[in-house]
Order: sequence, then C-alpha cells, then structure tokens
Amino acid sequence: MAQVVRKAVIPAAGLGTRFLPVTKAVPKEMLPVVDKPAIQYVVEEAVAAGIDDVLLVSSPYKKPVEDHFDRAFELERRLEDKGKHADAAGVRALAEIAQVASVRQGEPLGLGHAVSLARRHVGDEPFAVLLPDDIMVDGGELLRGMLAAYGETGRSVVALKEFPMSEISSYGCAAAEPHAGNLVRVTQLVEKPKPEDAPSNLAVMGRYVFAPAIFGDLAEVRPGHGGEIQLTDAMATLMAREGMFGYVFSEGRYDIGQKQDFLRATVELALEHPDLGPEFRQFLVDLAKRHLGL
Ligand code: G1P
Repeated sequence: MAQVVRKAVIPAAGLGTRFLPVTKAVPKEMLPVVDKPAIQYVVEEAVAAGIDDVLLVSSPYKKPVEDHFDRAFELERRLEDKGKHADAAGVRALAEIAQVASVRQGEPLGLGHAVSLARRHVGDEPFAVLLPDDIMVDGGELLRGMLAAYGETGRSVVALKEFPMSEISSYGCAAAEPHAGNLVRVTQLVEKPKPEDAPSNLAVMGRYVFAPAIFGDLAEVRPGHGGEIQLTDAMATLMAREGMFGYVFSEGRYDIGQKQDFLRATVELALEHPDLGPEFRQFLVDLAKRHLGL
C-alpha cells in the first residue's frame, strides 16, 4: 500500500507575463475569479482532496499570496469591533484552511527548480504539485482520482488532456499506452515539442502526484527548453526508472493565466456561485438576447 499523500506544493513564483498589464504590480495568483483570488481555488482543491499541508513556492514579488493565508490581526479586530463576526471568521478561516508555509525562489530558473526547493519541506514522502495557472472546476474529481491512482499503483501520476496538435508546443507532451479506465502508462515525455516532433496530442496539465524520488532527478537535471530547469525532464528520468501513469481527463480545466480562459472561468464560476449565480444567469440570458439576438 502506497504512502498517503498529505502535502501539496504550489509553485507560485511565475511573472504572469501572459496577463500584462494587470500583472505588472499584482501577482497573477491574486487575480479575483468572482470573489476569491485564483490561488484560493487551488488551495481549496488540495484541501478537498484530503491534503492539509501546502507549501507555496513564492518569490519576493508574491508577498500578497503568502499574506492571503496568514492571520490579518488588525482587519479581524476591526471587523469584530463593528460586529461583523461572520466576515471576521471568514478572514481567520483562510489562515486555518491548511498548514500553509512558503519558500522563496530567488531566481526564475524554471518550474523544475521551483519544485526542487520543496525538498526539505516534503522530505521522503509522496506529494502533489498543483500549478496555480490551472483552475479545476470539477469538485476536486481530477486530483482525488490521481491520488487514488497513486495509492493503488505507488507510481507517480500526471494529469493529461488531449489538445489539437497546433497547441501542443505550449505544453509538456506525453506518449502513453492504455492501462485501465482513464489511466495510461506514460512511455515518453517532452517539454513543449514542435507539433511535428510531438509524440502524441496528450498535453501535461498542471496536476501531478510524485514519488519523493523526483527530487533526486530534479537535482541531476540540466537546463532544458528555454534554458530552464524543466520539471518534465526530471519526470522523464523518473518515468524511465520506476514508471509513471497518466490520468486522462477532458473537462473542467481553465488556464487562468490566459485572458480568454480567465473570462470563461469567471463566467462558469459566477454561474455556480450560490448567492450571485441565479441573478447572473438571468443577466447572461438578457445579454445574449441583446447582443446575439438569441
Ligand atoms: C508548465 C510545464 C508544462 C505543462 C504546463 C501546464 O509550463 O512546464 O510541461 O504542460 O505547465 O500548464 P508553463 O505553462 O509554466 O510554461
């Protein structure tokens, strides 16, 4: 029986250049999606999957991300003084949602380097990695499925999604053989291949469950695509040595680091919001009638 996964690592040091100008002074992880910053969805997803220890790999520009999961004593006291007890409790709850710690990536040396910085915190345990650009609107189904697959196989698991070949060069790409259900056995991994070099149309999405041996591979890996230390390259070594599974899914993923997907995520999550949803739905219906003549 494989060890239970208790820890998650969230690399949140990226500059967010796909979302300028808003990300010039605001960390992309703090962009509001309806009424919560993007990073909160990702932490809540980890918690919903049973993980209670979260390490943020942050940077000197990402202090608000760390602060969001810390106590805000003065704000809490002022809310209490005004009798806004529910608001105060909501603010406090964010500091208690999980054991959230952070480590800083001083230099942008790549995703693999960011994950390698979690080694001391994670130790000799399996762990999940959640890339905060990807928001999952799936009630935690993907991550829970991946954790279950790790539990059953004891092998690392990576989320995979089919994409048009024309888009594959934006992602890590995996070749795979069928295994069982939506689990596939990964046979090759390449970071951001040209479409003509891509071994398949299966793209690596930002959810991973790793055996701790990945840290040894990350320590060995040399700069790859874009001159950066690539997580995908260390994964290829791990896969070759001990095997790796892919968990293929199709629904619920939004790349909120990208403007168009950010808008889609905002609309879908607003529709699902218990307080805002019903009125917003009516607004969309009226809007569609006015603009599209539907
Ligand atoms: C990273 C990974 C890539 C993966 C992608 C998923 O790329 O390096 O393998 O497919 O996340 O979003 P990035 O988007 O940071 O360039």
